[in-house]
Amino acid sequence: MSGARPARTVPFSVPWFDERERAAVASALEGRVAGDGPIGQRVEKRLADSLKAERVLLTTSCTHAMELALLALDVGPGQEVLCPSFTFVSTANAVLRVGARPVFVDIEDATLGLDPEDAERRVTSHTAALMPVHYAGVAPDMDALLDLAGRRGLKVVEDAAQGLGARWRGRALGTLGDGGCFSFHESKNVTCGEGGALVIGDPELARRAEVIREKGTNRAAFLRGEVDKYTWVAEGSSYVLSDVLAAILEAQLDKLPEIEARRAAVEGRYRAGLEEWAGRAGVRLPSSPPECESNHHLFHLLYPDGVSRDRALATLRQRGVMATFHYVPLHSAPQGQAIGAHDTSLPVTDRVAATLLRLPLHPRLSEDDVDYVIEVVRETGG
Ligand SMILES: Cc1ncc(COP(=O)(O)O)c(C=O)c1O
Repeated sequence: MSGARPARTVPFSVPWFDERERAAVASALEGRVAGDGPIGQRVEKRLADSLKAERVLLTTSCTHAMELALLALDVGPGQEVLCPSFTFVSTANAVLRVGARPVFVDIEDATLGLDPEDAERRVTSHTAALMPVHYAGVAPDMDALLDLAGRRGLKVVEDAAQGLGARWRGRALGTLGDGGCFSFHESKNVTCGEGGALVIGDPELARRAEVIREKGTNRAAFLRGEVDKYTWVAEGSSYVLSDVLAAILEAQLDKLPEIEARRAAVEGRYRAGLEEWAGRAGVRLPSSPPECESNHHLFHLLYPDGVSRDRALATLRQRGVMATFHYVPLHSAPQGQAIGAHDTSLPVTDRVAATLLRLPLHPRLSEDDVDYVIEVVRETGG
């Protein structure tokens, strides 16, 4: 079997670009292409309206949006930030980049997001903020996390990299805390290759963030005509997204309903084709609490143990299905060890990381591809 060519290859994730993005880029190239230009401002307004947020700032990535949020909130040296270990490296890197220390917290079994009870146990007099990650666009127990933040005076920065379009109790993810951070990386529902956004509810905080984003200058105020020249007013960096990339985002937002409908159809077909098999095999399909509304970002299976997950992954790959595991827990990664996190006990994180497998899910998957994936998954047992 191992030497045989697979019947077909089903890629894990492919962005869906067509003549709409090409036309948008061509048109953008006719005008100004720096950041905070007319297209970027339109996209920011459109996102703010649809999220019901005070302000959205486009950034070069979600990683940078998180750094920007922490800088604007004045989180820095001597302080600790609680975040999951079951997350992408960027959550912890953003904390390190501002000079603070990430403290890893276990995840809840139900949502695979930050566990409020474990978070509470790890709060110290140095804790400044919580960073919940909305894994697969599913919010963790935000009632408990917001309550904890309120009682202990902690800021909340949401890592909503995967969360655009998803909701919690009817509210858009990214608008639940002090700052919310989205990713427009090519693997996300809406993409411009690399990009991100910071969502902010407090106008004063938004003002601080727009200065930091523009190299510590008041260029944004200048562009609004509020000052007659712009100058260096604070410490800052360069986090603003070019208008060329904003043009791609604008085209993607135009077709977001189609993107979501296609993703939902793939998810529905997986569910229908795998539900009965999963029950027999002891494999868990994605689920979320009733207060969460999905954006169909990921479809993941939780196998009964690491051995069956690894075997399934190998079978799928051999048959050309580019399924994949997810995060290597950050506390056990080399950099996690270097910052002294290796002896943290995070049992749910370790179990989920060892048993989770993600299936291909993107808007360009055909029904035929999905049926092929289902057929191969059913062969993987449990
Ligand atoms: C949970 C999470 N946080 C952060 C990021 C980083 O996003 P970006 O690549 O836009 O910096 C990702 C991207 O995969 C992610 O999944």
